[in-house]
Amino acid sequence: MGAPATAASPERGREFAFTATDHRTISTMVYDEVGILLPDGKMQLVYGRLAPRVRACGLSSVADYIVAIGDDAEERAKAIDALTTNHTSFFRESHHFDDFGTRMWPSLSERLAKGGRVRLWSAACSSGEEPYTWLMAALGSDRTAAQRLLGRDFKLLATDVSASVLATAREGRYSKATLATVPGALRTAWVKGQGDLLTVDPMLRDAIAFRPLNLLGEWPIKGRFDAICCRNVMIYFDEPTKARLQSRLADRLEVGGMLYIGHSERLVGGVEKRFENVGRTAYLKVSA
Ligand SMILES: C[S@@+](CC[C@H](N)C(=O)[O-])C[C@H]1O[C@@H](n2cnc3c(N)ncnc32)[C@H](O)[C@@H]1O
Repeated sequence: MGAPATAASPERGREFAFTATDHRTISTMVYDEVGILLPDGKMQLVYGRLAPRVRACGLSSVADYIVAIGDDAEERAKAIDALTTNHTSFFRESHHFDDFGTRMWPSLSERLAKGGRVRLWSAACSSGEEPYTWLMAALGSDRTAAQRLLGRDFKLLATDVSASVLATAREGRYSKATLATVPGALRTAWVKGQGDLLTVDPMLRDAIAFRPLNLLGEWPIKGRFDAICCRNVMIYFDEPTKARLQSRLADRLEVGGMLYIGHSERLVGGVEKRFENVGRTAYLKVSA
């Protein structure tokens, strides 16, 4: 451990001084930039996640780090990255993919086969398990049929604000344990390699456009989507942020398109009127 606790770091055992004022400054910055709420109860979590950054910058207190990120946008992005919670898994809340497979995919795959366009969006995709799951579940294990469809006008956009998880997603390399929740036939069809580190087939990887995107910022996105997964990110936002985001997501969906949200999330702020709740946290857009 480094320097002992000082008057500025009342918590014994902390390597770097970190005060309640520091915490509030950080949480205001994070809220303003990405909408994530970090109330006072999250002070220890914030310290635990920022301490490696303070160390990497060669500083001796969080207050100094706050000054440093004030005029260093790159380091500020690293701080925000460190403060995001990226928990995810393959086939998480798999009822959404079952719903998509029966409700949407038969007509969408027919549209693709006839030369039409299909667009899906995994918004807040974390390290990629969600978009890869979505593709595997929709395509099944028939690689030849999958190749035919993916060669058509198909794109799955997968976005997140965290650069580090996007790098993992783009690489498509996961531990055997991480891939254990992928059903056997799909694992055989789409996962390559031996040993503990395995790779998702490049055919799937190349069908996904992984892009950095702050859900609170501008969306350089043209056109509408046939389905959007925006799951387990709104839990970090307050009600006005959720309402604004959901209304923007609804604007980006085709009528007849599906919005899937996380198990503890719900539609708020009046956007419910534009959707029909057709399954567990599964919403069909019924009006513009
Ligand atoms: C808990 S993960 C959820 C991943 C996946 N959707 C799932 O349900 O398994 C939340 C993700 O939201 C991302 N996130 C948080 N705030 C964001 C924002 N303002 N814009 C874009 N992504 C954000 C985080 O970086 C993180 O990867």
